Amino acid sequence: MRNEICFVSIKAICLIWCFMGLIEGNRAADFDGKKYGAKADGKSDDNKAIESAWKEACVAPKESMVVIPKGNYMVGAVKFQGPCQAPITIKIDGTLKAPADPAKFKSQDSWIVFNNVNGLTVEGGTFDGQGAVAWSKNDCAKTGTCNSLPINLAFNKVTNSVIRNITSLNSKLFHMNILNCKNVTFQRTTIDAPESSLNTDGIHIGRSTGVNITDAAIKTGDDCVSLGDGCQQVNIEKVTCGPGHGISVGSLGKYQNEQPVEGITVRNCTITNTMNGIRVKTWPASTVGLARSLSFDNIVMNNVSTPILIDQQYCPYGQCKAEVPSRVKISDVSFNAIKGTSATQLAVKLSCSKGTPCENVALNDVNLVYHGTNGTAISECANVQPKLTGNLFPPVCSVSSH
Ligand SMILES: *[C@@H]1O[C@H](CO)[C@@H](O)[C@H](O)[C@H]1NC(C)=O
Ligand SMILES: *[C@@H]1O[C@H](CO)[C@@H](O)[C@H](O)[C@H]1NC(C)=O
Ligand SMILES: *[C@@H]1O[C@H](CO)[C@@H](O)[C@H](O)[C@H]1NC(C)=O
Ligand SMILES: *[C@@H]1O[C@H](CO)[C@@H](O)[C@H](O)[C@H]1NC(C)=O
Ligand SMILES: *[C@@H]1O[C@H](CO)[C@@H](O)[C@H](O)[C@H]1NC(C)=O
Ligand SMILES: *[C@@H]1O[C@H](CO)[C@@H](O)[C@H](O)[C@H]1NC(C)=O
Repeated sequence: MRNEICFVSIKAICLIWCFMGLIEGNRAADFDGKKYGAKADGKSDDNKAIESAWKEACVAPKESMVVIPKGNYMVGAVKFQGPCQAPITIKIDGTLKAPADPAKFKSQDSWIVFNNVNGLTVEGGTFDGQGAVAWSKNDCAKTGTCNSLPINLAFNKVTNSVIRNITSLNSKLFHMNILNCKNVTFQRTTIDAPESSLNTDGIHIGRSTGVNITDAAIKTGDDCVSLGDGCQQVNIEKVTCGPGHGISVGSLGKYQNEQPVEGITVRNCTITNTMNGIRVKTWPASTVGLARSLSFDNIVMNNVSTPILIDQQYCPYGQCKAEVPSRVKISDVSFNAIKGTSATQLAVKLSCSKGTPCENVALNDVNLVYHGTNGTAISECANVQPKLTGNLFPPVCSVSSH
């Protein structure tokens, strides 16, 4: 009975019953191991068992729990579909492994999907995307389209929820995509993939309101956290990032009908050995857009390339008309207490749009040291007149072009 996936009313102390093989009583009797039992042999596809347990739990009129005990579960694409009748918890003590072959994901663009669930709690669990084969087939750098590989964990329309203590390993593309969510807290998230893995953004958030990420440890091959259009009231706190590409707002301005980004705070984070630290990036020749009220506070940088960066000429793979100014308006941005070492001589770059200059950008107490042979750290500014207070090293915008 050890590896059964069971479901009971929360009060029934499911875990103990599962482990002791004492499944009995009212609700629990509905979830006999033979009917819902996953094999957890690391080979058989256990997704049916997991989805069945979820379906039963989801229609239960009272708060309920799905438990996935210790073990290695091979699972293909899984959808945790709502809406559910009552709040629902998934407690995972095991490791879920995705098929390594990306061709196994034709029907669903993500591996594990939570869709339209209110009052969700996810407790624990390791999600191993087994991405090595997929990375070697990723042709994003050549084609610029990277949508053909699955994301490890997708949260779509998840509201009033807590996701706690989960681990995402070696995702094929993004580790986590949070879209159209509201009031969701992620606590103690661990993300791990090699620095060389392509497009493995740690946590991407888009079109969501009231998302908090606290105590995350993120090592990956792309942005540790990226905030796309429509992010509002998003708080990123106590995150360690690196290797990776830092914590980014954007990129913005690539698509039609992008929603404003507003009310973002990033604080008490440590960023180590990354390309870029904190950055705001928008495309040239862009659609009209808005990013305002962004606050970066108390961030430690260890050997980070250009730790502070506003880049309104973001144009990877040369896919844009770089000479046409971005039309994304950036305003009310503060950088406070940003300290540590820069891996590049250019430590602060505020490169705003010629057509839509940045407004109300403030820097206070910045100390970024460069230990190179070319001299001390420098800054570069364009189309911005920042408000400068406190001790600033390097000196910022001593010569600013307009
Ligand atoms: C987090 O989950 C791991 C297993 O994935 C477990 O060993 C650990 O005790 C959990 N930590 C907390 C604080 O819940
Ligand atoms: C946000 O979600 C939490 C936990 O899921 C809930 O307790 C809280 O009431 C929600 N807040 C609002 C404003 O709905
Ligand atoms: C998210 O963090 C902010 C700032 O720390 C806090 O005011 C807010 O209550 C938090 N929200 C949740 C849902 O935890
Ligand atoms: C952030 O760090 C500052 C300074 O170390 C500390 O005073 C503050 O309590 C921290 N805030 C949180 C939410 O951890
Ligand atoms: C600094 O970061 C670069 C990568 O950005 C890395 O190659 C180098 O080893 C790091 N240096 C130290 C001292 O960690
Ligand atoms: C040093 O400066 C030269 C000339 O400006 C530049 O070409 C070179 O890349 C710099 N080296 C480093 C390590 O920044």
